[in-house]
Amino acid sequence: MRYLPIDNQLFVQNRQRLTALLKPKSLVVVNANDIMPTNADGTMVFRQNNDLFYLTGVDQEETRLVLFPDHPDPKFREVLFLRETSELIEIWEGHKLTKAEAEQTTGISQKQVYWTHQFEQIFGQMIFEAENVYLNTNEHTRASIVVQTQDARYIDEFRHKYPLHHLQRLAPLMHQLRAIKAPQEIALLQTAIDITDKMFRRLLTFIKPGVWEYEIEAEMMHEYLMNRSRGAAYTPIIASGANACVLHYIDNSAQCQDGDVILLDIGAEYANYNADMTRSVPVNGRFTQRQRAVYDAVLRVLNESKQMLRPGNLWDEYHREVGKIMESELIGLGLLDAHDVAKQDPDAPLYKKYFMHGTSHFLGLDVHDVGNKYRRMEPGMVFTVEPGIYIPAEKLGIRLENNVVITEAGCDDLMANIPLEADHIEDLMNT
Ligand code: GLY
Ligand code: MN
Ligand code: MN
Repeated sequence: MRYLPIDNQLFVQNRQRLTALLKPKSLVVVNANDIMPTNADGTMVFRQNNDLFYLTGVDQEETRLVLFPDHPDPKFREVLFLRETSELIEIWEGHKLTKAEAEQTTGISQKQVYWTHQFEQIFGQMIFEAENVYLNTNEHTRASIVVQTQDARYIDEFRHKYPLHHLQRLAPLMHQLRAIKAPQEIALLQTAIDITDKMFRRLLTFIKPGVWEYEIEAEMMHEYLMNRSRGAAYTPIIASGANACVLHYIDNSAQCQDGDVILLDIGAEYANYNADMTRSVPVNGRFTQRQRAVYDAVLRVLNESKQMLRPGNLWDEYHREVGKIMESELIGLGLLDAHDVAKQDPDAPLYKKYFMHGTSHFLGLDVHDVGNKYRRMEPGMVFTVEPGIYIPAEKLGIRLENNVVITEAGCDDLMANIPLEADHIEDLMNT
């Protein structure tokens, strides 16, 4: 892996955290993701199943983890199955984990690491001691379930072979655990954020009238790849002028014009953890008065929103409060009329014309990370804060996005070092 080794205590502790949530006599199976095809014999870059990574640190295809903490025989309490390598695989694909390396990565004794083709033989010695079997489903509220994952195929296979076991959903437990980041996870996120910081400072000296959005993307990738990142955490949005008003603009194909603001939603990935940053900067290095007014309004909303990201607060209430702050900023900018706002339908607030997306989401191994929005905020949760104002009639879209971790006292801004104030941005663009 291009990222530096991760202390396996993180994964040992993650498995302990999961064990504490299981019913008695429970067995858990978690599978690797598939290598996804493109066309003909092409494949996408491998991306591990985040739950498997969280529990093992193994970043390799065809891996399967089985946990059975109550098994009478200690050697069956955690078992890892790996793809067995061969001379042919070594020649065509390169190195695959040995059992000793798997122990080093995961903290699971190599005596309990087997090859994938031994699965049935080992599993047969485990399954009939179990009553509950936790299998994994993608329960993200916006999950794409058009492609059947290895986890999903395994559910079919398991039900066919062992129809009388009690099936349990692993996903709610994983969401509960992954919502609270361990200190080692915060450190990995901080690395992704620090790489993003370096990249952004580089862009501030590169952006000028006439450059193309894809040239900015190339600069971004250069900095990411030079810093042990696999690249962007998500498809980057590099959107100048009116393009910034298209929320999921990813073409990045336009030439940046003098006088435009460019919106950059471009976080780095590091060790499967994700930064999620947005900045909006003037192409020529100076905001117009109007652009600056909108910019400062968005920045005030961001700063006030952060004050509400604190233990005990509820997601929906937080979003309603942010909406009110945004409402008054939009009135101040002349975009909404105070009388119209007073009469508005509370279920369809007028601010949504200019700010039509959520302010925050969980962040971690997934960019839109798993977590339950009905759970009160707790220390260790990591959120984005990303207000925006989009005015197509002015060819202007401004979004600012930072990443924060909830603490006992409120929240810490993990992006505190990344330039954000308009004056600071202008200074860096003009030095
Ligand atoms: N970059 C995706 C998001 O901000 O949610
Ligand atoms: Mn975001
Ligand atoms: Mn973003």
